[in-house]
Amino acid sequence: MKTKLFIVTLILSSLSYGSMAGDPDILSDFILPPENTTVDGNFFTYTGMRVLVQAPVPKTFQVLKASMAEFPALNGQSVSYAVLDFPPSSVNPPHTHPRGSELLFLLGGSLDVGFVDTSNKLFTQRLQTGDMFVFPKGLVHFQYNGDSKNEALAVSAFGSANPGTVSVPNSVFNTSVDDGVLALSFKTDVYTIRKIKAGLAGKV
Ligand SMILES: *[C@@H]1O[C@H](CO)[C@@H](O)[C@H](O)[C@H]1NC(C)=O
Ligand SMILES: *[C@@H]1O[C@H](CO)[C@@H](O)[C@H](O)[C@H]1NC(C)=O
Repeated sequence: MKTKLFIVTLILSSLSYGSMAGDPDILSDFILPPENTTVDGNFFTYTGMRVLVQAPVPKTFQVLKASMAEFPALNGQSVSYAVLDFPPSSVNPPHTHPRGSELLFLLGGSLDVGFVDTSNKLFTQRLQTGDMFVFPKGLVHFQYNGDSKNEALAVSAFGSANPGTVSVPNSVFNTSVDDGVLALSFKTDVYTIRKIKAGLAGKV
């Protein structure tokens, strides 16, 4: 009996370790790009965010990423950043990051945030400058700057070098999923589906 319990505990603890882990561990200090055998401090430096210094407020919601694609030294390090810039009354539509949880730090303005868990429960908050909010890995979430006069600026850290982004509107309505399938799925008609698709494709 005790042995069984021990084995069950062992399996459970290895499962919970598995689900807590970020990217797989690497077997070297860092991963060099194949074409670069010797690097210096520049390899570990990312300057792509300098464009934000003294930059004007963007016209629409803007995200600047520093993930593995933009910053190759992050490969194997299980971390990345994005800077989120919200002009007044702008939204970052519902989306998920399949490979990483997100820790958002609001640097300026106010921001309405929310996520939906796997039991369809919605969690929301109105953040003030200086607040942080965590979006659990893989769950659908959004951010909205409801202030019609002021910008909101946030930095998000991710527990993956390549968290990935799946946009709900785009993946459902801005690909070639059959209109009939979507009409049935959303319990509406093909006309309504085409209208939504046209909006996302910029055809209205
Ligand atoms: C190789 O590394 C150097 C310095 O770290 C960097 O300036 C250069 O762009 C890298 N080259 C490639 C092909 O990644
Ligand atoms: C819809 O997809 C097109 C083509 O990939 C893209 O140019 C456009 O930005 C997408 N629309 C939105 C709202 O992201």
